[in-house]
Amino acid sequence: MEKVFTGIRKMISSGREGESFDIRGWIYRTRSSGSIVFAVMRDATGIVQCTVKKSEVSSEDFEQAARALIETSVECAGRLKADARAPGGYELIVTSFRVVSFAEPFPITENQSEPFLLDNRHLWIRSREQTAIMKIKETVLGGAREWFAENGFCEVTPPILTTNACEGGTTLFPLKYFDQNAYLSQSAQMYLEALTFSLEKVFAVTPSFRAEKSRTPRHLTEYWHLEGEEAWVNNEGNMLIQEELVSHIIGSVLRKRKEELALLKRDAEGLRTVEPPFERITYERALSLLSERGMNIKWGDDFGTEEEKVLTLEAVKPVFVTNFPKEIKAFYMKEDKSDSRTYSCADLIAPEGFGEVIGGSERETDVRKMISRMEEQSIPLEPYRWYLDLRKYGSVPHSGFGLGVERLVKWVCKLDHIRDAVPFPRTPSRIYP
Ligand code: 4AD
Ligand code: MG
Repeated sequence: MEKVFTGIRKMISSGREGESFDIRGWIYRTRSSGSIVFAVMRDATGIVQCTVKKSEVSSEDFEQAARALIETSVECAGRLKADARAPGGYELIVTSFRVVSFAEPFPITENQSEPFLLDNRHLWIRSREQTAIMKIKETVLGGAREWFAENGFCEVTPPILTTNACEGGTTLFPLKYFDQNAYLSQSAQMYLEALTFSLEKVFAVTPSFRAEKSRTPRHLTEYWHLEGEEAWVNNEGNMLIQEELVSHIIGSVLRKRKEELALLKRDAEGLRTVEPPFERITYERALSLLSERGMNIKWGDDFGTEEEKVLTLEAVKPVFVTNFPKEIKAFYMKEDKSDSRTYSCADLIAPEGFGEVIGGSERETDVRKMISRMEEQSIPLEPYRWYLDLRKYGSVPHSGFGLGVERLVKWVCKLDHIRDAVPFPRTPSRIYP
């Protein structure tokens, strides 16, 4: 009969003391003292201490266990035994220990430099912290998909190869598309807009690319973008959607990823308060708040990390900053009815200095206004013909937003650097491994 392997977490939570289990995984830690080997094994679900006693296994199995270095892959069988000192409160008293593949000495040991860990990212992603972050990210994406599905959004698949700059020419990655010039997508927004004319409410999760040379702890050159676009929705409605969505995502993480948050030593208390409504302040109000706190930002200046930190100093929930001046936002946004110096737009700023996680806006529907704005900014019209067409055939009010998945994960996990929110980070200085 084919062997049935039990996941370590399932085995431990079964609490079935004395019962025999087969498990498989990798050696996470190991030490031996003469006639006994303590090999902590890990699999995708957890870790357990496997105690290999010379008296309980064949001499060949014991010899293998004694010789196996960390990261050796193993299949083993044993009896579950309660042990208060062992991680998870149980150990496995091993009756058979079979090495699948012996590991060479693992290059990653304690206290290694960040560049070394990044060069060995393909191995470092096995670490428990990285694993916990990836699981939390999975729950972030799953929670988002759940919310979108419950709220009538259709998931769509926009292209990554494009000829349009959605977010300005300075951060485009150009590429040769046979004999044409093309770019890697900065945002699926324009394609999502096109899809709202049939599906009304759509969303997509795609890689987005920004050739940003800025080496900051919150910029990647390749990141995952969660974007929503909704017909018949204004900027206020767009913010309602975002605060519901973000709160649902955080709720999913709090429910499903307690262990992972604990492993990352993320104090989850602050996250519990993340429920709608989120505070909304205008850019103008933000300027006066900043000046009260001694920061001199002029109308038309964009916020940096420091400004965002100060703006959310007293906040536990994210804050929307609305009505940015036109000169610092994109041409596709809709002019605000009550303040024509600004657009009907909002950035969502996470608390505790984590900064912008979402950029969103109502979209301009008037083709003439859009064209004159593009001409003012010397944006060539030709690549945007199709986009302008959308305004000519049954245009309707619509809005949308883009959430940086790694920015959100960075905040949820309280990471120092965004690169840890992605298994293989791409930054200006790194594209290997
Ligand atoms: O604010 P951005 O540039 O907005 C757009 O791209 C819109 N077209 C989205 C839309 O309306 N559909 O980017 C959206 C979000 C930012 O708020 C940030 O969270 C994330 O994308 N982001 C980055 N994340 C990691 N590294 C970078 N270099 C990022 N640039 C933007
Ligand atoms: Mg932005």
